[in-house]
Amino acid sequence: MTVTCIARNELRTPSRNMRLDHVIRTVLLSTLLMAPALPAGAEATKPLRLCADPTNLPFSSDDPARPGLYLEIGQAVGAKLGRAVTYNWYKSYFGKRTVRETLLGKQCDAMVGLPLADDFMGPVVIFSKPIAHEGYALVGAKDRKLAGIDDLKGLRVALQYQSTPQNLLASRDEISKVTVLSPDEGMAALDQGKADVAFIWAPVAGWLNRTAYGDKYQVVSTEGDGLLWPTAIGFAKGSGALRDEVDAVLPSLQADIAALFAKYGVPNGAPVKFGEAGQATSSVGAREPVTVGQAAADKPVQTAAVTGDTKAGREIFNGTCAHCHGPDAVQAERKIDLRLLRKRYADEMEQTYWKTVHDGRPAKGMPAWKDVFSDDELKNVYAYLQTVQEAGGSN
Ligand code: HEC
Repeated sequence: MTVTCIARNELRTPSRNMRLDHVIRTVLLSTLLMAPALPAGAEATKPLRLCADPTNLPFSSDDPARPGLYLEIGQAVGAKLGRAVTYNWYKSYFGKRTVRETLLGKQCDAMVGLPLADDFMGPVVIFSKPIAHEGYALVGAKDRKLAGIDDLKGLRVALQYQSTPQNLLASRDEISKVTVLSPDEGMAALDQGKADVAFIWAPVAGWLNRTAYGDKYQVVSTEGDGLLWPTAIGFAKGSGALRDEVDAVLPSLQADIAALFAKYGVPNGAPVKFGEAGQATSSVGAREPVTVGQAAADKPVQTAAVTGDTKAGREIFNGTCAHCHGPDAVQAERKIDLRLLRKRYADEMEQTYWKTVHDGRPAKGMPAWKDVFSDDELKNVYAYLQTVQEAGGSN
């Protein structure tokens, strides 16, 4: 049974193949057309109650020192609405039953991170605009090429039992499968040399990579049916007014949300298009995601004066910055095409880089990164960016 609300479905369908920035940009345009001033109802001063699992990092935790991605997004939304945030803790996995008992049982006002899918409890649950994309990722050594299914040929790939990746690779005899029961086991199989690549649940892979494996691996989001889907903030059907208030503040939180993803190591956007080479996928997005493989063929221009670890820099870039600036900095929109930095700023390129990256341009959607990456890491990113500056722009 699929109950679909036409108006929201229209939003959802393209978003599946769009990155967060596009989604948010679309949202921004549409909210600018609406009256920006929100009527301050009686609700406004009451705390915003979030339902959350106390033991579900990277998403949520009752440890105030490390509340988790979803709770921090919820806190940011609460702050924008001028409402304190309180929690209703439930200890269980996400599932329709949990949502029924907590959100629909009026124990809380909102749940961050519900899947924005046609058949997820519509119409009793209503959704904000998409806040992120979640799905499966390829995890492997940083020097391994992971740009599509063909790169898995001849390798041992750890797959979660009964997951989309397991189904997807079931008929590929040239790939050896190592079945694991959880993303944690997948990471362990990789780390113990029992698998060459793990194709597992991306948020947990990214989080473990950051917290347990010292960012040793690359975590590459994949895209395709059942591999990547948008998530949003869910509300009970009767909370349309609150939903609209949240939608109105989400555009101004774009940069904060991107920085939170980076903080928790959770990949978001810029996925590898995971299909057979040359085979059409379901992509209909305004801007096609570029596979990492294609982008690498884009002839970087090596300059003499590069100092720093360009490989490490590229890793950070593709893990975090690529979400807005394009994989390997390949970006069709000139304003955020970082291959034009030298052309644009010439001698001031480095200075502009540091100022922009340290402080961000929050009003324009560029997050501040000084609390997320060390200067050494940012220097490596700069070194990498020097290698992709457009030819002929160095004067
Ligand atoms: C959430 C989207 C987003 C992410 C993630 C992001 N940026 Fe940006 N960045 C932007 C936007 C939007 C601009 C353009 C701002 C403007 O219009 O002035 C920008 C501008 C820049 C500029 C200045 C470009 C110019 O020509 O003036 C630099 C340098 C830059 N970003 C570097 C980075 C680096 C390095 C990272 C990763 C650590 C990163 N950005 C991550 C959105 C993002």
